[in-house]
Amino acid sequence: MLTTVLVTGGAGFIGSNFVLDWIASSDELVINLDKLTYAGNLQNLETLKGDKRHIFVQGDIGDHNLVLGLLREHNVRAVINFAAESHVDRSIDGPEEFIQTNVVGTFHLLEAVRDYWGGLAENDKSAFRFLHVSTDEVYGSLEKSDPPFAETNRYEPNSPYSASKAASDHLVRAYHHTYGLPVLTTNCSNNYGPYHFPEKLIPLCIHNALTGKPLPIYGDGQQVRDWLYVKDHCSAIRRVLEAGKVGETYNVGGWNEKPNLEVVQTLCAILDELKPRSDGRPYADQITYVKDRLGHDRRYAIDARRLERELGWRPAETFETGIKKTVQWYLDNQEWVNNITSGAYRDWVERQYLV
Ligand code: NAD
Ligand code: DAU
Repeated sequence: MLTTVLVTGGAGFIGSNFVLDWIASSDELVINLDKLTYAGNLQNLETLKGDKRHIFVQGDIGDHNLVLGLLREHNVRAVINFAAESHVDRSIDGPEEFIQTNVVGTFHLLEAVRDYWGGLAENDKSAFRFLHVSTDEVYGSLEKSDPPFAETNRYEPNSPYSASKAASDHLVRAYHHTYGLPVLTTNCSNNYGPYHFPEKLIPLCIHNALTGKPLPIYGDGQQVRDWLYVKDHCSAIRRVLEAGKVGETYNVGGWNEKPNLEVVQTLCAILDELKPRSDGRPYADQITYVKDRLGHDRRYAIDARRLERELGWRPAETFETGIKKTVQWYLDNQEWVNNITSGAYRDWVERQYLV
């Protein structure tokens, strides 16, 4: 019987939360393959130092021989694919890396997995799973009165990022339909929580608030996102891996639709309570409207009823409980933030916000 899981992108935000949660609840070996781009951070996995249940390998999902070697050496029973370029603004600034990793990289990963899977014994073959972690952004943008995205919505990606994720979803689907590879796909809404890279709205605003910088709101701040605490996303992935129907997709969401401005105001109010500004002014004073994102999607919302109905999954956190935990985590982990927000990070922020 095969016994190991291969996680790709496990040094990033969601991947590292997934690896930490997995190891906290299972003795199964995790092989963690991550290229360590600017978004990958081994500090996220520091608590696993010396733990024999975790093997970190620096490498690219597009490296066929490396992936095939890892699959064979460790008798892998499941691959969970988090590895991707994930930031929409960076995809607008420079789309090529998104095509390379999210499309070409996923293709090479699928090819290596197909090679390995094809050589397995029949019972291992049918028990094997390839779980592809994707996004709600593949469905495009909703009007105010539209129902939330269901699994049956057509794909209408609008950014280079979402188009690259949509392409990877299609490849995963095709590998099931054509070769019978036992795949599962999850399409999740906006995550937030520990280890979130401070280029994304929530950690960026917490960091900027605490360092006295502007809190940049794109356009009118009325774009709506559905927010899910990262640990709930991880529990959904574990559940789909365990009981999801092969070849199917599952939408994952938190039933927490919020306009961006409200999210930032909430962050400010929590910081006012937990770490008041030294001048006694509210953090909301730092809110600043800046130029809008090109092609900015107006609203995302997820209908996660299928996952609840068929697999019994529900999020454990509300937005109110999750966001409070998140702000507290950033207050307790300023060193983690400080280690990131230097060098290359500062170059990005300058290019994105000061020109
Ligand atoms: P992230 O940017 O924080 O982490 C991505 C990780 O992948 C990094 O550790 C990076 O080093 C690694 N990586 C990048 N290219 C690689 C390559 N070619 N080979 C190996 N590793 C590589 O991303 P995240 O926010 O943790 O997102 C993880 C996955 O979840 C992505 O596929 C993303 O599309 C999806 N997703 C994210 C969200 C969200 O809100 N963040 C929501 C839904 C879905
Ligand atoms: O919906 C799921 C997606 O959520 C994931 O697939 C992506 O990987 C993830 O990055 C996230 O994408 P968003 O573009 O929604 O996340 P971001 O944090 O970049 O932005 C959230 C919203 O806040 C969005 O409407 C843009 C806005 N925003 C963002 C930044 C960085 C601002 O108003 N100001 C900012 O400075």
